[in-house]
Amino acid sequence: MKIAIGADHAGYRLKDELVGFIQSLGHEVKDFGAFGPESVDYPDYASEVCGQVVSGEADKGILICGTGIGMTIAANKIPGIRCALVHDLFSAKATREHNDSNVLSLGERVIGPGVAQEIVKIWLETEFSQGERHKNRVNKVKQLEEKHTLHP
Ligand code: RB5
Repeated sequence: MKIAIGADHAGYRLKDELVGFIQSLGHEVKDFGAFGPESVDYPDYASEVCGQVVSGEADKGILICGTGIGMTIAANKIPGIRCALVHDLFSAKATREHNDSNVLSLGERVIGPGVAQEIVKIWLETEFSQGERHKNRVNKVKQLEEKHTLHP
């Protein structure tokens, strides 16, 4: 798969560690930064990575900030994105099976690199459940984008 990845200054170290790991799983990684500790704004990186997913240039996206929360909030503003904040293995599997999440968010200040690697591996490997109830719910989530969009 093609994976777009991005982080802010509070997440770039974990991002840098994950890039090689994701490549070792056989995926292609497009790294949108940040590449150092200079203070930056997480919505800018969420926008870059999610843009890749929505356009189809990437199959999935991974975002990292200090908590993962800012990235998640920003990503879920973008139509077509279903971003899941995950810090445990159960949720990594469940959010693929139940929510068909297409972006994963992680907090570098919350979990260590070992757990992060396991989460990424499970999240990348798990398919969306073919159960009708899950498809129906994800379709209802998609409908919310149109229903609550402010039209001038
Ligand atoms: C940066 O200090 C921090 O606020 C950011 O990385 C993230 O945790 C926001 O949700």
